Amino acid sequence: MPQGQTQQPAAESQRFDPAALAQMEQFVHDFGRMYRERNELLKEVTRAHHETLLRLAMAAEFKDDDTGSHIIRIGYLAEALALRLGCAPDFASLLRKAAPMHDIGKVGIPDTILKKKGPLTPEERAVMNQHTEIGARLLGQSRIPVFKMAAEIAACHHERFDGKGYVQGLAGEDIPLAARITSIVDIFDALTMDRVYRPAFPLDKALSMIQAEHGKALDPRIVDVFMEHIDELNDIRLALTRQSPSFSDLIDTP
Ligand SMILES: [Fe+2]
Ligand SMILES: [Fe+2]
Repeated sequence: MPQGQTQQPAAESQRFDPAALAQMEQFVHDFGRMYRERNELLKEVTRAHHETLLRLAMAAEFKDDDTGSHIIRIGYLAEALALRLGCAPDFASLLRKAAPMHDIGKVGIPDTILKKKGPLTPEERAVMNQHTEIGARLLGQSRIPVFKMAAEIAACHHERFDGKGYVQGLAGEDIPLAARITSIVDIFDALTMDRVYRPAFPLDKALSMIQAEHGKALDPRIVDVFMEHIDELNDIRLALTRQSPSFSDLIDTP
């Protein structure tokens, strides 16, 4: 090998001061540790942020006279339905964590309206409908994916496929998929549980009420897949009702 090439590395290495090199290595090591610690803290903050909002959603649900288990079932049912629709597992998993916050805006609705036994007046109905926008505002301040999806669901879960819903009167696939999926499992779970003002509807009655909204309030393709897999979905609902589901599985950690 030519002489010039064998001597080059030795000449290069002599340019570095060993103390400076050691200091640089230490710096790189410290920087790596700080980076890992920062990521851990970020995860902790995101997790705490999500848990706080989830508990707020649960507080909103208690106001509406429920045990809080409805919102947890919504998460798992929305994930299960999304998977059966062929959605990506990442999307379905995010939906499990985002859908439970759909009614978080009810914290901003007066109890006199929220807990009213009789039918609402048009004015009271208008106030009640604001829970969608309040929820979207509460959730929509974040760039974190789970909150972005949750804000979209809060804003759009009362839109109807035929365009006759609220807030914006969106129709068809203009309604975000996450909201279209959440709407059907929300209706299914609400119909099949006891409320203060009525007992749970029997399963067949609840299903015929959902089928009646095929292409009207609800996305027809999603209703078809829901009906196709109703036995599995109902088993999930029953299992979640029997055993207390894990709250921590609903919290997102980036
Ligand atoms: Fe709602
Ligand atoms: Fe609900």
